[in-house]
Amino acid sequence: ADFTLYPEKAKPVSDLLFGVFFEDINYAADGGLYAELVQNRDFEYALSDKEGRDKSWNSQHSWQLQGEQTIFTIDSASPIHDNNRHYAVLDTKVPGARLSNTGFDGIAVSKGEKYRFSLLSRKKGKLLVKLVSKQGETLAQTTLTLNSSNWKPSQAVLTASATSTDAHLELEPLNPGRLELDMISLFPAKTFKNRKNGLRPDLAQTIADLHPRFIRFPGGCVAHGDGLGNMYRWKNTLGPLEARKPQRNLWGYHQSAGLGYFEYFQYCEDIGAEPLPVVPAAVPCQNSGVGGGGQQGGIPMEDMDEYVQEVLDLVEYANGDITTTWGRKRAEAGHPAPFNLKYIGIGNEDLITDVFEERFTMLFKAMQAKHPEITVIGTVGPFYEGTDYEEGWSLARKLQVPMVDEHYYETAGWFINNQDFYDKYDRAHAKVYLGEYAAHLPGQQVNLETALAEAIYLTGVERNGDVVSMTSYAPLLAKEGHTQWNPDLIYFNNTGIKLTTGYHVQRLFGNNAGNEYLPGALTLSTAQPALNKRVAASVVRDSKSNDVIIKLVNITPFNIDSNIDLGALTVAGNTATLTTLQGKPADKDAVPATSTITVAPQFKTSMPAYSFSIIRIKTK
Ligand code: AHR
Repeated sequence: ADFTLYPEKAKPVSDLLFGVFFEDINYAADGGLYAELVQNRDFEYALSDKEGRDKSWNSQHSWQLQGEQTIFTIDSASPIHDNNRHYAVLDTKVPGARLSNTGFDGIAVSKGEKYRFSLLSRKKGKLLVKLVSKQGETLAQTTLTLNSSNWKPSQAVLTASATSTDAHLELEPLNPGRLELDMISLFPAKTFKNRKNGLRPDLAQTIADLHPRFIRFPGGCVAHGDGLGNMYRWKNTLGPLEARKPQRNLWGYHQSAGLGYFEYFQYCEDIGAEPLPVVPAAVPCQNSGVGGGGQQGGIPMEDMDEYVQEVLDLVEYANGDITTTWGRKRAEAGHPAPFNLKYIGIGNEDLITDVFEERFTMLFKAMQAKHPEITVIGTVGPFYEGTDYEEGWSLARKLQVPMVDEHYYETAGWFINNQDFYDKYDRAHAKVYLGEYAAHLPGQQVNLETALAEAIYLTGVERNGDVVSMTSYAPLLAKEGHTQWNPDLIYFNNTGIKLTTGYHVQRLFGNNAGNEYLPGALTLSTAQPALNKRVAASVVRDSKSNDVIIKLVNITPFNIDSNIDLGALTVAGNTATLTTLQGKPADKDAVPATSTITVAPQFKTSMPAYSFSIIRIKTK
């Protein structure tokens, strides 16, 4: 193949092209990224949370009383907070019984590591707190003296004496009498960046390694819920943990809201990603009340002013100074400086109905009027092939929405065949945020073939980086044993992380992005039209480092020798870094390898069969 670059025809492209989509699906938050180790710490699990109305899914879920002469009940007569009405009562006649919690598929602890235990309690008595292995070995213990007629916090640090992947927590009252307990929590002392109420360091770092330019949260469908009562309302997720409002996760489990808006903003800041919250456009999923939410349609018009204000308040929460009502709340949570919110998504994949249009228009216009500095990202609805999102785009054009969110999950073949998807997009209208996409092979797990299909498609996105401003693969995380949606980018369990080949592609794009696109012409020496779509190149320049980054994708079974002509570029030195992800199409474990190569204004390279290669060259 011959590849000739025309640097003089460079055009600016978005410098936010590669980000991440975080949704609490597949146990991504509770039991996942959120580092809490106790499941159902607040005794708020409810039968209605769970798909199939599993009877065990109640306030006692994950808790068990072991032993006799103590009665374990749940009370709600005098709770710590209205949003957290249930608490545990232990009535002990003769001490000896223990209340235990098995965490999320067991509690994983490591030898020598510290764990922060805390609870809220009422009444009087000594409580023995232990971490115990499955074999019954005590791994850590401490005794708390509880003594208060009103709810009072207590805490202790436990140091694990051995490693265990499936330990449990035990609480043993040491005196006869009644103890009332709530918010029973155990966090690893080491969280990501040591944040309080923080994130699992390995998962948080794995996401940070993608070098995402933004994080979209909290979904996905979780953002708009499956009924009016199930929408993700950002104000419910702030403040002391016991005051947050837990709710049914529409993916069929419980959402504690421990990972709430403050934590999302903090994580974005910690990894240098722009925050991209998505709020409901006042309508639930597909405007319907399916799945237990109840009402059809949207928020009643008489309540819309209040809802519009709620969305405007989010900007004040993120950016307002500490003299403002919501800016003060952010400061009280420990962050007086603004979070510098610049983007806000309104709506997620909603059907473009009259109900939607009326409400979206109100929200969009109010945001434009009050916060013209914020870029609103609208939605163009679900993708039905052949429709080109007609209704969504026509509304976006009418309102002059600056950016819209598109979603599609398609086969690897679709991505290979549609690399020109954005070539035809009219540059006079909204920019695109490709907010959810993934390639799959029906009935199979993702592998190198799907990853290369995504890579080749992303070369087309880079070429169109003047109209596509952002992209995010979805979903991001999936916990083993709790995976409701496939494929996902990162699979994990309590102790380990399994990266997909798609993850490597995302990481390579994220770490090799630029802000200028350099056009080039790729000609294959063997004229095999059927294979043409399976080979592609894109080149960007990062004007900060002056690095020129050539991406080459070859989804054929042949090695393709290539002559690269850098045109008018002046290379600094004569070496470059070559990173290649290659293997067999069905490989699930292929990882990129990096080497140093010699380069010149014209040089030869080879695109191995089934590969994605990146050549990073310093230029003057
Ligand atoms: O990514 C999984 C789901 O796919 C999202 O929640 C939803 O927006 C889309 O339909």
